[in-house]
Amino acid sequence: MKKYRVGIVGATGMVGQRFVTLLENHPWFTVTCLAASERSAGKTYTQALDGRWNMATPIPEFLKDMVILNANEIEKIKEEVDFVFCAVDMKKSEIRELEENYAKAEIPVVSNNSACRGLSDVPMIIPEINAEHIAVIETQRKRLGTKKGFIAVKSNCSIQSYVPALHPLKKFGLKNVLACTYQAISGAGKTFDTWPEMVDNLIPYIGGEEEKSELEPLKVWGKIKNNEIVNATTPNITTQCLRVPVSDGHTAAVFVSFENKPTKEEIIDCWKNFSGIDLPSAPKQFIHYFEEDNRPQAKLDRNLENGMAVSVGRLREDSQFDYKFVCLSHNTLRGAAGGAVLLAELLADCECFAFTS
Ligand SMILES: NC(=O)c1ccc[n+]([C@@H]2O[C@H](COP(=O)([O-])OP(=O)(O)OC[C@H]3O[C@@H](n4cnc5c(N)ncnc54)[C@H](OP(=O)(O)O)[C@@H]3O)[C@@H](O)[C@H]2O)c1
Repeated sequence: MKKYRVGIVGATGMVGQRFVTLLENHPWFTVTCLAASERSAGKTYTQALDGRWNMATPIPEFLKDMVILNANEIEKIKEEVDFVFCAVDMKKSEIRELEENYAKAEIPVVSNNSACRGLSDVPMIIPEINAEHIAVIETQRKRLGTKKGFIAVKSNCSIQSYVPALHPLKKFGLKNVLACTYQAISGAGKTFDTWPEMVDNLIPYIGGEEEKSELEPLKVWGKIKNNEIVNATTPNITTQCLRVPVSDGHTAAVFVSFENKPTKEEIIDCWKNFSGIDLPSAPKQFIHYFEEDNRPQAKLDRNLENGMAVSVGRLREDSQFDYKFVCLSHNTLRGAAGGAVLLAELLADCECFAFTS
């Protein structure tokens, strides 16, 4: 089978490294290009990382000596790839310009960045939930004047645990949602070595995170009208996002009230029967419900189904809302690189990419 040639823009970063490990033996995609800032350009991948490799498995042999390109060398990168993954740490306006330049050069972009998430013709997709939003890519191509090029994004890692758990409950009329997230330090591109201040600590602020956590679910649940995504207007969502001393895995404590209050058994049935999708990186069971009172735990459960499943537990009635529960997802796998790889598989399956060689 012919494989799509893939570039990773931001290959030296935390998310970029995850892409590298996830794509090492991918059945549909093969990494043919690594790009990063001018600081890394011209160095081999090993030299550019300079001790920053944070994955549990070694750097894949075939990428160790690959020379990093400057992310701005788009024409050069175009010769090497059919599409790119993008996860870079730059100003929002610069990221939007960079991603649109790739798209205009007819290189599709599957992005982890937030810069283009708010645009109504840029689909923000959780494949099990809103795959139909792919349809707005045609509108975007008209705006950008492209035939092949486009940008598709994945949502913020913070919503990745609670939106899947809430989605199958929409049929009971979700009214109000309160979510407190407890987010791992890898979400900031850090480890305990690079952020020692986080040991034995908690920081009650993550810039921009609460806004994203309240708004992005409404885009995911939006409907296509006049070829653009119009955000949903319900449920009402309020959040608090905290940084906690956990290496990987974002937890959310969720409170929810409904128009038509379901029973506890009905909710658990909805989670157990949430049908998945048939793509190489998709989990067999999207949501795993734990009966044990002390689960899910970040350390024990974040890697469930290769870090692509969502764990839920502690469902019980609440005195002010109808129910409360706790959910967990791996922030750099399902919440970042893994979610983007799954999105790319969906786009490839829908023939949104073209082979260019
Ligand atoms: N970590 C997560 O869990 C997570 C989850 C969802 C989304 N994201 C998003 O993914 C993006 C990357 O996050 P990260 O945690 O991987 O960050 P990171 O570890 O700080 O890595 C940043 C990457 O961006 C590159 N970069 C910086 N300035 C650049 C420039 N001017 N031109 C080209 N490349 C440049 C860096 O290259 P050099 O090494 O050459 O400097 C590096 O490869 C961010 O937008 C973040 O919000 C992260």
